[in-house]
Amino acid sequence: MGGAERGILVSGNWKMNENHFEALKLIQELAALLRSGGVPEGREASVHPPFTSIRTVQTAVETDHVPLSLGAQDCHHADRGAFTGEVSAEMLAKLNVVYVIAGHSERRTYCGETDEQVRAKVDAIYRNGMRPIVCVGEHLAERQAGEAVAKVRSQVAAVFSGRSAEQVAAAVVAYEPVWAIGTGESATPEDAETMCAEIRAELVAQAGAQAGSARVQYGGSVGPDSAGELLAQENVDGLLVGGASLDAGKFVAILHAGA
Ligand code: 13P
Repeated sequence: MGGAERGILVSGNWKMNENHFEALKLIQELAALLRSGGVPEGREASVHPPFTSIRTVQTAVETDHVPLSLGAQDCHHADRGAFTGEVSAEMLAKLNVVYVIAGHSERRTYCGETDEQVRAKVDAIYRNGMRPIVCVGEHLAERQAGEAVAKVRSQVAAVFSGRSAEQVAAAVVAYEPVWAIGTGESATPEDAETMCAEIRAELVAQAGAQAGSARVQYGGSVGPDSAGELLAQENVDGLLVGGASLDAGKFVAILHAGA
């Protein structure tokens, strides 16, 4: 099974959903389910609320000792300064955020984020003592043209070249084929396995054998029905879940899938 020695990380990317009232309700539902069902051995879950809900979720998680790691969806590359409307990695670290998503395809598409910008954000995440979840993935046309592996490996190389094996090993990389996000069309477990193995090979090529212990997630239309088979793949060490993470029952079912 994926993550046998590396551990499995199931992450809920709430995207632009859940104001702080709604976030409190969702986190209380998650807390109740995790209190009764627990977190399976060798597994970890993180939640990534929008910025305005992070403090609310932090308080609920810490007060009730809910077994969830706190995450964010993005950050700026600078720690502070004249960047109106931005939120820094330093600010997130102060809220005890552990994982920060960088380079989600929605940000690459709608905000024009480049590999260079994603790399600078990852620098900021490490600088502030947190772990990046770096999203990579090909568009449908690239897959159809047989360019998926080259595209994804180039995205991985752009962010991780020149880093120490220790730094790379602390990272999470999420393989999210763009055509599978929010479409209901998940990659097959075999395709997910192939691409996650390619990502791991690129991490090792960049930083040496120890870098291969980084966790590699799959994301794209994951639900309770598809999660078990995906997590059974050798190189799939977790899942990055969008829509289904807004439903506490579905998210906890995904966390338990196949365990
Ligand atoms: P969906 O699970 O809604 O397809 O979203 C996947 C995703 O983009 C997670 O980051």
